[in-house]
This record gives sequence, structure tokens and C-alpha cells, in this order.
Amino acid sequence: MSADPVRVGAVDDVEDAEEEEQASFLGASSGKVGMPKSLDVDDGAGEEGPGVASCRIFHLICCGLLSMAVGFMGAKFLRGRQDPFTPVSVACPVREPRSPASVRLPGPGMVELVGFNRAWLAGNGEYEDPIVVTGGAGYIGSHMSLMLLERGFDVVIVDNLSRGSMLAVKVLQAEACKLSRSIAFVNLDLGNHDQVTELLQRIQPRAVLHFAGNAYASESMEKPLLYYQNVTENTLSLLRAMAKAQVTNLVFSSSCATYGNPPQVPVTETVEQKPISIYGHSKLMAEKMIKAWASREGSNCATIFRYFNVYGADLQSRLGPVLRGPKLAQYGRLPDVLVEAALGLRSSVPIFGADLKTRDGTAERDYIHVWDLVHAHMDALAAMMLAGAQGDACVSDVYNLGTGTPVSVQQMLSATKALFPEAKFTVEVKPLRSGDPVSVYADPRKALAKFGWRAQIQNTTEALQTSVRFLQKHASYFHLALGDMKTLPDVRVPSTAPTAPTPGMVAPATPSLPAASPATPAPSAPGEYRSRYAEPANPWQAGDMPNATLNSTPWVVHRFSDPLASPRMCIQVLTIPSVKKGYLYWSFFILREYARRNGYDLYALTTKMNETRPPSWLKIRSAQAIIRSNTGCDYLFWIDGDAIIMNFSFRLENIIGYNGNKDVDVVVSGDTVAINAAMGLWKMTPWAYSFLEDMWNIGDVKLWETGAIAILIAGCKPSDPVNVKRACYEHSDKGWRNGTFAKHLKLAEPWAVQEMLVNKTLSDHMAWVPKRLINSYPKGLFGGMFDRATSPDFLAHFVAGGKNQIETWAKDSIARNKLLPDPSVPLWPPDPPNRV
Ligand SMILES: NC(=O)c1ccc[n+]([C@@H]2O[C@H](COP(=O)([O-])OP(=O)(O)OC[C@H]3O[C@@H](n4cnc5c(N)ncnc54)[C@H](O)[C@@H]3O)[C@@H](O)[C@H]2O)c1
Repeated sequence: MSADPVRVGAVDDVEDAEEEEQASFLGASSGKVGMPKSLDVDDGAGEEGPGVASCRIFHLICCGLLSMAVGFMGAKFLRGRQDPFTPVSVACPVREPRSPASVRLPGPGMVELVGFNRAWLAGNGEYEDPIVVTGGAGYIGSHMSLMLLERGFDVVIVDNLSRGSMLAVKVLQAEACKLSRSIAFVNLDLGNHDQVTELLQRIQPRAVLHFAGNAYASESMEKPLLYYQNVTENTLSLLRAMAKAQVTNLVFSSSCATYGNPPQVPVTETVEQKPISIYGHSKLMAEKMIKAWASREGSNCATIFRYFNVYGADLQSRLGPVLRGPKLAQYGRLPDVLVEAALGLRSSVPIFGADLKTRDGTAERDYIHVWDLVHAHMDALAAMMLAGAQGDACVSDVYNLGTGTPVSVQQMLSATKALFPEAKFTVEVKPLRSGDPVSVYADPRKALAKFGWRAQIQNTTEALQTSVRFLQKHASYFHLALGDMKTLPDVRVPSTAPTAPTPGMVAPATPSLPAASPATPAPSAPGEYRSRYAEPANPWQAGDMPNATLNSTPWVVHRFSDPLASPRMCIQVLTIPSVKKGYLYWSFFILREYARRNGYDLYALTTKMNETRPPSWLKIRSAQAIIRSNTGCDYLFWIDGDAIIMNFSFRLENIIGYNGNKDVDVVVSGDTVAINAAMGLWKMTPWAYSFLEDMWNIGDVKLWETGAIAILIAGCKPSDPVNVKRACYEHSDKGWRNGTFAKHLKLAEPWAVQEMLVNKTLSDHMAWVPKRLINSYPKGLFGGMFDRATSPDFLAHFVAGGKNQIETWAKDSIARNKLLPDPSVPLWPPDPPNRV
């Protein structure tokens, strides 16, 4: 395989423009005036392109180069030279050909074939189920593209870079390479109707996600025609191109600006739209055209999302809100402006209106984290594709995307000050701008009802922190002097008390569950737990976990599942600081990758949930909370942190109905003590919830949660006296004394299960599988049989000893399951950090 690096022949004027923007932002003299040709919608279209060389380059080298590209980009700006990593076409030939239906885009050929002057490809040129993302180099569009890649889609970005960022494009190329996906970035103006049509005809995308446009209400009041052209007219042009190319699925980014000053809050989708800005009008007109296109023309299908105020950054800090140059800085969105001010990039922050008729006199908005926002698009896309696959008519509709909670300018200011107490910037109160409403926040229940979607990141501080991390990571790209920034306190996001529901909002439906028993101990006072279990310094921060798609105390949730998957499988593991050991570093990396590849959501419990007991008990509370919380999980697999997944081809669905079992509330495997509660598959049912409550209420016993379930199996109740419970435990731990019995129980032989199961009513709810199916011990450890060299067992559990072997086993799993270390994520040094 050859490895000649790929280069685009010449640095083009778009790159120059971007460089100029950055330089200009810093006050550096670039010899040219100010901003890129941001408002010239002809920019980039119709010109002759540079000669594009292509190559086949080995996956790792290619990803490494791109990572380096991103990492070293800052040097270019600081030295005032050209970026050594101008757009490249990158081939990552690791992927097997997937589908005969794939579209192939030969890299260099694309220029001649389709006539685009600038198309940069990453991947192997094969596009399976491609999705076109207009505005994919912009803030929201780039996050969307990233999620599409992560969810296994190939992406074609159409962007004229008027406001997008090459940083985003390069990050996306690198991610595509790592994920063995293809991404094409086509530098094309949406108004170039012929070329957009030609592209759509060529690509035949499954859907177009339309983000391109200009998006500042106050700017629209100064440049109305720009907005009518770039938002309204270009949307019309796109619809016509889609019609010609017979592309029928569209998701459109509309805005709460279409509501203007709504007569009531929270705003439902049925509230009359009376925009007060040109931007709002331009979006409303686009909405009307899309509705007409969807209702009148064949099988067209449109989802229109009305976003409220979008903020925050990718949780791995790969992407985020890109700093704008000075011309656009005046229109900056409040969260971005505040973060910039806190980092010393602005000396004052203007706020518009301080004596408004709101709770604290300042304007109120509904801030929605960009990651939540793009999740909703995935849901919409999945619904469209499902309808297509089933031959159902797709239902076009409009949905608000917001949290449902108003946050005032003053509250946002306070959140920033809490994050950066040392920050010195002044606040300048100005009159409310024309085009700005006083108070707008969403009623997002329609999206909840349709897609099961709701905003998961509700904590403003947490969300702002994601932006700060992004800017820190890419400081050199933005020419940021990091000296002061590094000394800022590393703020831990405080856990949030559940927010009171917005007036008028109905809490989402929860399954009817028994109330917690009065015997449940009260939560410990803060600090009580800590005194018993010392925490290591520098506990994992939620944001340090790669691929986390949701950062909500107490879990970091890695959402990898297809929202339409049935059943939807989830995994929970404890990563709380108290159980943090060096080996968790290995097991967690492997588990996360297992979840990602198999499409399971992974719930990593990161806090102690205020309970008083040793960590392993918390699995019970965590599982109960997951049942209660409408997570969408159908089944939850418990896995202990000292287990290493060894065989990625074993799927958790295999456990359901294994060997003719019924589909029951909980599946366990036999062990020396009835079961080992480390592993088990729980169905998200009210029965499971109440059984978990009984387990909790058994109280402090030998072997903690394993002991508790063993006592219930032996027929005891939580209210039984201690000596009775002890007798129950002794019945269930027969395997310790009788090795033959243990052997049969480990094979889940029905007679052994029945002999142990005193409470026969549990037969309706519990099933046993052979121990080795889900809970193998390494050979020589506790009578374990798992021989690494020969066995294909699902996982190796290093129970009560043998932890020193974990690293070796983990490396073996990494090799046999072909997991590649991710060079851009600091979770992969050769030595696990914080070994204790
Ligand atoms: N950010 C928000 O809070 C918010 C709120 C409501 C709605 N929206 C809408 O979401 C969409 C994305 O917003 P964003 O914040 O990511 O904006 P953005 O400016 O970061 O991204 C827009 C992208 O579209 C590209 N673009 C603009 N005109 C184009 C054209 N004619 N042809 C090709 N590409 C073009 C730009 O280069 C840029 O990359 C917009 O339509 C916006 O109106 C955003």
C-alpha cells in the first residue's frame, strides 16, 4: 500500500480568507481587509479548482497526520505563514466494500465529473446512505456531521465557507478516517442551483439536512436582502434541486425567531408566528415553502425544527462554537460572548435590556446544547428512514427544540462568573435591540411525544464549560494566549438539583412504579460517605470520557444506540471516583468501544448518588433511576468495572430467551453464591424496580448486593430479622461448601436452580444462564476456566484478585478485537493514570 501524502495543489482564496479572518480578529496585519467574503454568496462557486492529487494512505498514518494537522495548526497563524495542512483529500482504505448500492465518488475525478471547483474527500470514496449537510462547516452543521459519522453515515458537506470553519472540516475528516466513514466537503454556494442539482443527482442522498444560512437576528435588520436571499431564496433553490434529483427527505433548521414576541410562554408549535426580525421572516417564508413542497409534491417529507438558542460544544472538545472575526463579533451570541469575555478576549459584554418585564429585568431565552440539538436530528432522520423502509408515508411536521426552561441574561452572566470568578470584564447595559424579543422559551413536548427526545444537558455551567474546553483545546488555532486561562480553576460541575418543571409543562410519562419503601435509608449528609471512603485526587471528569454524548450528573451517558433499535440495550458500569482504579482505565476503554460497535447506550455512573453504602450497592439505585427516567432503554446490562470484554461478537441480545428461557425481568448466571450480581441483564420493568428496592432494603449483608439477591432467592423478605436473613444467605451459598452443586448451578441446570430457589414465585421473573455466558473468570482465578489463548468467552471478570492480570488481558482484547488506540484522546497513554 502506498503512502504518499495527499495535498491540494494551491492554497486557495477561501483559505486565505479564513486566515485573514483569524489574523484580523487578533489585530494582526494581513495585508488584506478584514473578513472573508462572507456575504458574497457567489463565493467559491464556479471557479476552476486546484488540481487535486489523491492517494491511498494507510489508515493510521492518515489519521495521525490529520490529528497533527489539527494540533499544529496554530503555528501557522502565529508565524503568519500558510497553513501547511490546507484541505486534503484523504483516503482511508480500511473499509470493506459495504453495499453494492453505494455511490462512489472518485476523489480527483470529482472535479472533472461534477464540475466542482473544490471537493475534498476523506474516506475510501464509497458513500453508503450518504446524507447531505448544507452548512456542515458551520457551528451546528459540523456537530451534526460528526454525529452522522459516529452513527455510521457517510456525509457530503455543502458549504461556501462564508461563515464556516476549515478547522471543523479538518476535524471531521480526521474523525471520518478513524471511524472508517467517508466525508466529502464540497465548497459550493447553495445558490449555485445547477451544481447543487448535479451534486444531488450524483449522490442520491437519503436526506438533506439544511443548516446553511445566516443566523443573526440583529444583522438581518441591517442587511435584510442578504437574509431573504441566503435564507429564503437559497432554500427555494435547494428545494427545486431536490425535486429535480428526486431527493425526498429534508430536515430544516428553523428558528424560534419566527415566533417574534410570543403572546404566551412556553411557546408551543401552534402559537401564531409573528416574527419581529427580518431573520425570523426569512425563516418563516422558508418554512412555508418547505411545507408546500412537502404537502403537494409526491412523497416529499420534511421535518422542520425550530431551534431556540443553541450553545455549547462537542463533549470531547473536537468541535465547538468558532470564534468570529471582528465584524461578526458584534452579533455574537450571548454564551459565546460571555466565554470570550471570561477568557480575556473581550473587555466588555453588552447586554440588551435590563428593565424588561421578566423575573430579573433581563431578556429570557431557552438555551439548548448543540449536542442535544443534533440528537433530535438523528431521531428525525431515523424516523424518516424507518418510514421509507416500511413503505409508510412519512409525516412532515414542525417541532420546537429547547429545554423548556427560561434562562435570563443575568443568570447566564452569573453562571459565567461562577465559572470564572477572576474574570475581569465589564457589563454594558444597552436598550433592547430591534428584532430581539423579551422572553422566549420552548414547550418541547411535541418532540418528546414524537421522538422520545428531550434536552439532557440542562445545567448551564456544564454546557458553558464544554465551550471553554473546546477553546482551550484549539487555543493555538484561535491565537489565544493561554497563560491566564491555564490558571483558571478547574471547576467541577456541581450536581444539579432537579429543575422545577416549567409552569404549564407536564412531566413526561413514567412507568407506574411502587413508591420507595419507608425503610429506605435517608441520603447521607454531604461528606459522611467521604469520611469512610477516601477519594483520589483528580477524579475523572465527565468531559474526559471520549464519545460521551450526554453529560448529566450522575452519569456520563455514551449514546450509541439507534433510537429505533428494538430492543434498545443499555449497559451500566460504575466509574465513580471511589472505585477508580488503574484497571478501570483499561476496562472502560474496551467497554465503551464494545458499546459503540454494538450500538448500546453506556451509562457510566460517576457520582455516588448521595448514598451511604459501599459503591457496589449503587448499581441498584442507578438501575432504578434508569428505569424511572424514561431513558429509552429496554434492557440494562450490569457489568462490574473489573471485567474486560474479550469477545466483541457476543451480543447482549443473546441473553434474552437464551436456551428457551422466557423473556423475564432479570437474567443472571449461577455462581458459588446463587448468582454473582456483578453481571446481569435487567429488563426495565416495574417488577424489576420493586425487586431492586427489596434488594436495597435487605440492608448491609455479606457480599453486599450479591448477598442481598441471594437472601431474596432463599425466600427472605427485607423486613425479616437479621438472624433469619443470615439463614437465607447460608442456604444460597451452598456452592461454597458443595463444589458439585456449584458446578451444576454454574451450568444453570434447572434442578440446581430449583433447589436453590426457595421463593418459587421468582421463577416467573428470573432466568438463569450458564455462568460462562456472561461471567467468566480467568483460568486459575476462583476456579475460572477462561483460557485466553483458546476460549472465545464474552468477558473475563477479575473478581476478588487477579487484578494485576487485567492489563495483559486488556491488551489482548484490544488486539483480538482490533481496537485502535485513539491518538487524539488523552485516555491512551501506555501507563494508566492514577493507579491506586
Ligand atoms: N445557532 C443558533 O442558536 C440557531 C438558532 C436557531 C436557528 N439556527 C439555524 O441553524 C442553522 C445553523 O446555524 P449555525 O449557528 O450553525 O450558523 P453558522 O453560521 O455557524 O453556520 C452556517 C453555515 O452555513 C454556511 N453557509 C452560509 N450561507 C451559505 C451558502 N449560501 N451556501 C453554502 N453554505 C453557506 C456557512 O459558511 C456556515 O458554515 C442556520 O440556518 C441558523 O439560522 C441557529
